[in-house]
Amino acid sequence: MKNITSEALGMKVRKPSGNYLYFKTRARSRSFGSLPDLFNQDECEGREGTDEISHGMDEEGKIFKFTPSDPKIKTKYAEVKELFQEVLSPTVVTLMTEVEDDKTVIKKSLVKSKILCDTVLESCRRECAIHSCLKHPNIIEMYDYTEDDEEFSLFMEYANKPMYLSELVNDTHTPVEDQHMLRKIAEDILKGLSYIHGRGLIHGDVKLCNMLCHEENDVISVKICDFGLSYILDQEKGNKVLIKDVSGTLGHIAPEVKSNCMIGPEVDIWCFGLMLYELAVAYKPTQLKSYTYSSGDIPFRRVDWRRKSPLLQDLILKCMNYNPEKRISAEEALQHPWITSQE
Ligand SMILES: Nc1ncnc2c1ncn2[C@@H]1O[C@H](COP(=O)(O)OP(=O)(O)O)[C@@H](O)[C@H]1O
Ligand SMILES: [Mg+2]
Repeated sequence: MKNITSEALGMKVRKPSGNYLYFKTRARSRSFGSLPDLFNQDECEGREGTDEISHGMDEEGKIFKFTPSDPKIKTKYAEVKELFQEVLSPTVVTLMTEVEDDKTVIKKSLVKSKILCDTVLESCRRECAIHSCLKHPNIIEMYDYTEDDEEFSLFMEYANKPMYLSELVNDTHTPVEDQHMLRKIAEDILKGLSYIHGRGLIHGDVKLCNMLCHEENDVISVKICDFGLSYILDQEKGNKVLIKDVSGTLGHIAPEVKSNCMIGPEVDIWCFGLMLYELAVAYKPTQLKSYTYSSGDIPFRRVDWRRKSPLLQDLILKCMNYNPEKRISAEEALQHPWITSQE
């Protein structure tokens, strides 16, 4: 993994900061079937005009369809301020208000002038199609999306403390000492992941800056965002997907992810385990001197872990099992004693 050069792999690899080292993206057509297949399937449930979102896949496992609204919907929203933009990334995130009722929303623009090839345009359409089908309290809700000559515009729920977790760990190097809070964060993320996996998807880029926080009545909830690197699982292939190129964020990619290999939802669980480790001690295992993932068991430095529950370590180890077949699932992790115990 350390030897990855993004260029050699011709892939979309994100730097840990979130921006792109190289924006050519993986060719996803092999993993997803041909694009006409993907984009001409049954109407996506949960979009405007339909009643209920289905929590399962249809028999074909194909329910994600790109059905953008008329670009005129953009006039429903007024810009308040830009929140996020990085030099090499096509993403611009802007705080907006809905003109009619003053509701705060987020617009994520994927700016076409910064998109270098057609496969990336396809992956933007895939992000819209997938994200708009997801409805869960621990996933940022997408309200609407459209495409015009300039950009894809994704209108979504606003999280009022978006970078809380990533700032805590990466900027202030502060672990989450309060076990109740850590448990609530972990549980929220697992519920979101369990839903995503149950819909036949892999998130594909699980990391702290894609886990947005929202505070209401002094309670913090975590909501998963950013489905730009998601995969649709192939039920015929045992709920796995064949990937052509490695994608994800450097330092946050499960060990089994290689070019031309089959992966499953377990890749997200590895990243969840890593996040839980980071939240508990405010550094990654690989930041410890001389440790690399291939060099042995995940290290738990006594000075940092002696006051923490051994059950927390147990959960992390079950998530970061090198063997994806033996890794705990999101649903199982929700039943793990560290999550269910009230201590
Ligand atoms: N719904 C939202 N509410 C608040 N901030 C958001 C929201 N969506 C994205 N952001 C901010 O924008 C950043 C980039 O958004 P993301 O969807 O992760 O884009 P990218 O695909 O470029 O990583 C997030 O890390 C977060 O800081
Ligand atoms: Mg992101």
